Amino acid sequence: MKIYVYGTGCGAGDLVDEALPIEKIEAFVEREGGGSFLGRPVISLEELAGRDFDLLIAASRESARMAKELDALGVAAEKVFYLKNHLVPVDRNRSYELASEILGKDYVNRIRFSERLIRVPLWTEREKITGPGSDNDYVRLKTLEAICARLDSIPGAAAELGVYRGGFARWINQLLPERRLYLFDTFSGFDEAESAACGTGFAQAHRNTAVDRVVEIMPHPEQIEIRRGLFPQTAEGLEGGRFALVSLDVDLEESTLAGLRFFLPRMSAGGYLLLHDYNNPKLPGVKRAVERYEAEAGRLRAVPLCDVNGTLVVSA
Ligand SMILES: C[S@@+](CC[C@H](N)C(=O)[O-])C[C@H]1O[C@@H](n2cnc3c(N)ncnc32)[C@H](O)[C@@H]1O
Repeated sequence: MKIYVYGTGCGAGDLVDEALPIEKIEAFVEREGGGSFLGRPVISLEELAGRDFDLLIAASRESARMAKELDALGVAAEKVFYLKNHLVPVDRNRSYELASEILGKDYVNRIRFSERLIRVPLWTEREKITGPGSDNDYVRLKTLEAICARLDSIPGAAAELGVYRGGFARWINQLLPERRLYLFDTFSGFDEAESAACGTGFAQAHRNTAVDRVVEIMPHPEQIEIRRGLFPQTAEGLEGGRFALVSLDVDLEESTLAGLRFFLPRMSAGGYLLLHDYNNPKLPGVKRAVERYEAEAGRLRAVPLCDVNGTLVVSA
């Protein structure tokens, strides 16, 4: 088996220490070539192009540059295994089989999962969010998963204001199977006066849902309490409630402000409120609602996320 390693830095050093004895490496490769590394020759990319090999292990974080160079040289993508493959949303590695054979399955699985920074970090390897819908906004869903894992000793219910078709609520229900989950929505779209300035497509699309359809996709429907109608009227009776987790996702200013005013004073210490769309330029009312709330109640302890629509995580 003829194996070459592209790179002579830490990545290549770790590879030799952890998974690939130096005797198995024909040569290292650098753009210019020359000299040796760990006692093996360092050849140039041009020299590599003229050689026959089974696997080239790209052992540098500059995998985007390497991929371009190798492509220009006509190296078949199937023959390259990228060790540092974590800066691209699409996996560059065509197959893990040959690499597993050579480097061992454990090592390759470590690469495969931990190096996918925006896909599957090592600490969430035991996936709880999988299946249909789980590929929708990775950062948002993984943040929810990480937050729910911190709620064990925090008392209170879960709630979502702004449920629509239940796409996010279903994950809350799955991740917090022991908690009551209040779902607040008109289930027939926005308040007409409040959404008057919005596009008709936007308003119309949000009417297209139904309570049954939402309950149907909940993994623990026995925990669901539907609060149908216009918030905050639908919070009646819950004034004495405590909440450990709230998802606030109503898109518009007045409803967002009503949600902040109702839920934040009722959050358990250690709980979290996830405010969707805080940094969404298409829905500027959400940020305005936060500014208004902060003017009334003081600065929130909050972390903005880099998820698709710019969620703000408020910590209670
Ligand atoms: C963007 S959708 C929610 C999406 C959902 N959270 C998800 O991630 O799949 C916004 C929802 O907020 C609801 N909504 C907006 N203002 C509301 C209010 N004052 N009372 C009840 N529901 C409201 C709308 O009916 C709509 O279904």
